[in-house]
Amino acid sequence: MDRFHYRGGELFCEDVALGGLAAQFGTPLYVYSASAILDNLHRLERALARLPHEIAYSVKANSNLRILRLLKEAGAGFDIVSGGELARVMRVGAPPESVVFSGVGKTAAEVDAALAAAILMFNVESAGELEMIDRRAAALGATAGIALRLNPDVAAATHPYVSTGRAIHKFGVAETEALELYRRAAASPRLRVRGIACHIGSQILEVRPFLEALDQLLGLAARLQAEGINIECLDIGGGFGIAYGQEAPLDFESLGRALEARLQGTPYRLVVEPGRRLVGDAGLLLARVLDVKRQAQKNFVVVDAGMNDLIRPALYGSYHEILPVVESAARPLRADVVGPLCETGDFLAQDRDLPEVSAGDLLAALTAGAYGYALASNYNARPRPAEVLVEGTSFELIRRRESFDDLIATELIH
Ligand code: LLP
Repeated sequence: MDRFHYRGGELFCEDVALGGLAAQFGTPLYVYSASAILDNLHRLERALARLPHEIAYSVKANSNLRILRLLKEAGAGFDIVSGGELARVMRVGAPPESVVFSGVGKTAAEVDAALAAAILMFNVESAGELEMIDRRAAALGATAGIALRLNPDVAAATHPYVSTGRAIHKFGVAETEALELYRRAAASPRLRVRGIACHIGSQILEVRPFLEALDQLLGLAARLQAEGINIECLDIGGGFGIAYGQEAPLDFESLGRALEARLQGTPYRLVVEPGRRLVGDAGLLLARVLDVKRQAQKNFVVVDAGMNDLIRPALYGSYHEILPVVESAARPLRADVVGPLCETGDFLAQDRDLPEVSAGDLLAALTAGAYGYALASNYNARPRPAEVLVEGTSFELIRRRESFDDLIATELIH
């Protein structure tokens, strides 16, 4: 939050007044702080500094090309989950050996593109996928680096939609199956065993589940080594939690120390796949108040951003702090902050105490840098917002607002 602060009663991103950005680029508007993104990356770097490691930014959290380039230039690699994300990281010149390809349900075309790019490794989700990658590698005369995604059956306290590490979830394979698949992979001239991967969920605030998962990766690595199959890297996935409200974020220093205690003296390179933690608190969504409705039972502040722009409150019941862009001593108004879409689930916040606002005022929904624009849609034929990146006193438009022509560009009418 420190890169977003009030100065002279007005909310700033770094040294740029948000009111000015809204006037220039319109609303709804995503605004990101480049310094906050780099601070987040450097904090994680420092926590892992004593271990050989790679930070593979999880592109799904925010895939804007300018943000990918910022992270690449700062030394990050990438975790991708689709051909589209592969094309994005290639577009910004990511070194292919810094790219890992995760995700259930890779297509042959996506695998071909990643083989042609010579990425570091595929995090393989099943026997069928391993066979398919082997076949595609043979067809292209390529070698595929692989890790099996282990399902460690570890519970992490988070929203059920983003918990991924239990045996009941669709992700990864159990250890006995993984062992068998590693044997097959080791026997294939087209596959090169590089690592063991897992990802137990998202927005995890405790260190413990990561260590439980890592212990299983280490156990499997030892079993494989006993069979002469050598592992180079252990990928513990992403999921590092941030503070949306009063909760404490996952403590990087404790995580770093605990990982170090387990990994020092082992031959393994650590791979992590943080998404949210690098960009979440580095972005906010600016919206303009359209109307204030005082109903018998509830008050509603209607703003020009809705669930199509930021779906997290509607989808997960997520909390985003709402701040007025101009600080105000007006008496508080308890209200729901709602968008213009035709669904009761279209809200950014419920039952919040805001200073009384009126039409034309600006509000900011904080901590919207991750899974904000990335999950935005054109529902209700609404163009998606513009995005601005701020650094110090300078700012640049990194995505223009969509136009009506953009909305209909792929439609055919005969
Ligand atoms: N690696 C894999 C294999 C993943 O599936 C994910 C996220 C990550 C890394 C990055 O997780 P992070 O560090 O960002 O927590 N839309 C949801 C979050 C979905 C996360 C999906 N997988 C939200 O808005 O909270």
